[in-house]
Amino acid sequence: MASKEIISKVWIEDGCIVCDACETAAPDVFEVLEETCIIRPAALDVEFCKPRSTEIVDAAEECPVDVIKFESTTVEVSDAEAAAVPADAPASDAAPAAPVVAPAKAAPAEAAPPAAASVHASTAGAPDPAIAALLKAATTRGGHAGMLKNADGGMASSGSTRGDARNLPPEARQAKVQAAAKKASADADAGRRAFASSGALMVGWGAFSAGAGLAVGPAFTRFMMPNVMEEPDPRIRIGKLQKYSEMEPGGVNEDYKPQGIWMIRLEDRIAALNIICTHLGCIPNWLVNERKYKCPCHGSGYYQNGVNFEGPTPRPLERFKIYVEDGIVVVDKSKKYNYELGQWDQPSSFLLV
Ligand code: FES
Repeated sequence: MASKEIISKVWIEDGCIVCDACETAAPDVFEVLEETCIIRPAALDVEFCKPRSTEIVDAAEECPVDVIKFESTTVEVSDAEAAAVPADAPASDAAPAAPVVAPAKAAPAEAAPPAAASVHASTAGAPDPAIAALLKAATTRGGHAGMLKNADGGMASSGSTRGDARNLPPEARQAKVQAAAKKASADADAGRRAFASSGALMVGWGAFSAGAGLAVGPAFTRFMMPNVMEEPDPRIRIGKLQKYSEMEPGGVNEDYKPQGIWMIRLEDRIAALNIICTHLGCIPNWLVNERKYKCPCHGSGYYQNGVNFEGPTPRPLERFKIYVEDGIVVVDKSKKYNYELGQWDQPSSFLLV
């Protein structure tokens, strides 16, 4: 006999960021609306959910803000029945569209040497939670459920007119994901503090009634203090200049993709690319054999230097400020440079090597 997990109830808590990951994983169960996601009426029936248990578990795991909840029971089944249960959800069919060759856009003229660094970076570069959420939502299954493959195999948008997060500019979309993740974290902290505070109160009253005069004040005060959520430092130290100057021209270093950065080697310089797609904020993949970044959401393509050449995106990827401090290359994500504004010529947008 084998066993399997059967979903008996599924629901969605507050905090949905309308990323479409759940609808992609379990389209029969979840429907993404303008402001949130709902359980389809048919999926309120336990018999409907049973054969879709694996998809529902996948959807819950892929939700970047963990608002999908479910109840399940483990039942014993025959080996034949267990074998009939789909193991894992099928792989994404959102393969990149066939590349469309378009005239190359000229890389900008790049100029003077970098200015001296004036500030000190203070972080070694922990993974950016917003980037992690976007990676999870946009790349695990190849992008949004609203994305359809057309008859020619090319990618086409669903034509949806929903005013959801996908219609926001990349910065706003990233901020929305980050805010949702922060809220979820804050709620969890609040719950832990409430539990811990109640325990501390009981200890305090016990000590008080016993007349022991125990010093519970500092601990109680700590429990009552709010935990301050700090923004991650936008300055990320990414190692010695030599590491990047030794790259071949045309190379891409993905070591800091979890922090939202691709380091690229150009003819006589290095630069730090923002990995956020300038269409609607998904995260493209670097396809080394095709020498391009390809966005899984709607098919935008960019050359190694960040200039767009296919798909719906209206402009190139952005570059971050970059400088050397104490012999270490620092990328400052708070300062961005846009090609279409002629800013890739600015000295602090690259390092000569
Ligand atoms: Fe639409 Fe990247 S988000 S192509």
